[in-house]
Amino acid sequence: METADFIQTYYRERKQTDSLKWDALKERYGNENLLPLWVADMDFSAPSSVQEALKERIEHGIFGYSLVPENYFSAYDGWQKRHEQTSFQPEWLHFTSVVVQGLYDLITCFTEEGDQIIVQPPVYYPFFDMIRDQKRQLVTSNLVETPSGYQMDLVHFERQLIENDIKLFILCSPHNPVGRVWSKEELKTILSLCQKYGVLVISDEIHSDLILTGKSFVSAVTVAKEADFLDQLIVCNAPSKTFNLASLLNAHIWLPGENLRKQYQKWESLHHHTGISVLGQVAAIAAYETGDDWLRDLLAIVEENYQLLQRQLLNAIPEIKLSELQGTYLAWLDLRDWLSTEADVKNTVQNQAKLAIDYGEWFSSETKGFIRINLATKSENIQKAITNLIEVDRKLKGGNGE
Ligand SMILES: Cc1ncc(COP(=O)(O)O)c(C=O)c1O
Repeated sequence: METADFIQTYYRERKQTDSLKWDALKERYGNENLLPLWVADMDFSAPSSVQEALKERIEHGIFGYSLVPENYFSAYDGWQKRHEQTSFQPEWLHFTSVVVQGLYDLITCFTEEGDQIIVQPPVYYPFFDMIRDQKRQLVTSNLVETPSGYQMDLVHFERQLIENDIKLFILCSPHNPVGRVWSKEELKTILSLCQKYGVLVISDEIHSDLILTGKSFVSAVTVAKEADFLDQLIVCNAPSKTFNLASLLNAHIWLPGENLRKQYQKWESLHHHTGISVLGQVAAIAAYETGDDWLRDLLAIVEENYQLLQRQLLNAIPEIKLSELQGTYLAWLDLRDWLSTEADVKNTVQNQAKLAIDYGEWFSSETKGFIRINLATKSENIQKAITNLIEVDRKLKGGNGE
């Protein structure tokens, strides 16, 4: 489908639909008249086939206790093979409502209070909350910016493993917010460090389907299989980010290792008795069976929006730096050469350009002056954001708008 047709078919006005992104602006940003480009969900509806499958299930009208349908596994496995060249055994798969809940549960199950957990900032900020909320200790190994983009600092990471007694590493792959899709080599190196120092790894792969042209996603499972590391690896992912289904509460935890699986099953039997979401599963099956073209077309829009930023915003305001977007639909911009303080960023981007975005300091204390922009919307919205920023820049630089 052409980009314009996709937008025509799937873009929705979301104000007054109880959307966190659109209807919580006053609460979150103190101003309801902002253009919302924050939080990672999309302004596009799920594929038509998913909507049809949901309608059909709703017509049935009974939403009693449910089983996981047999074809869930084949639909999901087919998708994994087609899109990620990764396969799984049905017994590995556990369901949870959302990935964040899964991560809270996994931390509780596999670590003790006071244990040290390592993450790589700037990173999805609920990782910090889940470690602190559960009285574990946060250890960090920052990603580093190099002329060829963000890299893992593997020397520093190893030093942190040597100097601390790290129990768990939470990997973000692809990485939110910097947009990196980790290469097989990078994954091999970091997983082999975890293997060497006996560190359990949770790979949060919720963005694994959102991969831009020229890149391919490698799951930690693929690497761990080859390195005999499956016993120490857990993967989380979901159809929610890919197909915009977050509120249908259906996400996956993969536990390939038998020991970890048994430990988790025992923990679940004591602490976790949530049922599955029948609508979440109906939607996932339809999406996995028929959502290929929809995803391809969606990614074309993300790519187009990214190019708009590159062409128009960077041309007009060359002080802004934009990280290469390899995966996710989240653009990461460095405004530090443009605006000197955090207050300037808020004043410029939010108060003047009227944009609700994610601030860099949410992801790391060292990325003040960065912002994250959600590109999963119609290009007109990204164009508006760019126009507003350029307008403010003209005022800042004392021009008259010519
Ligand atoms: C890396 C990462 N993990 C988890 C989530 C949240 O997923 P869920 O809604 O399933 O908790 C997000 C959302 O942006 C994310 O970026």
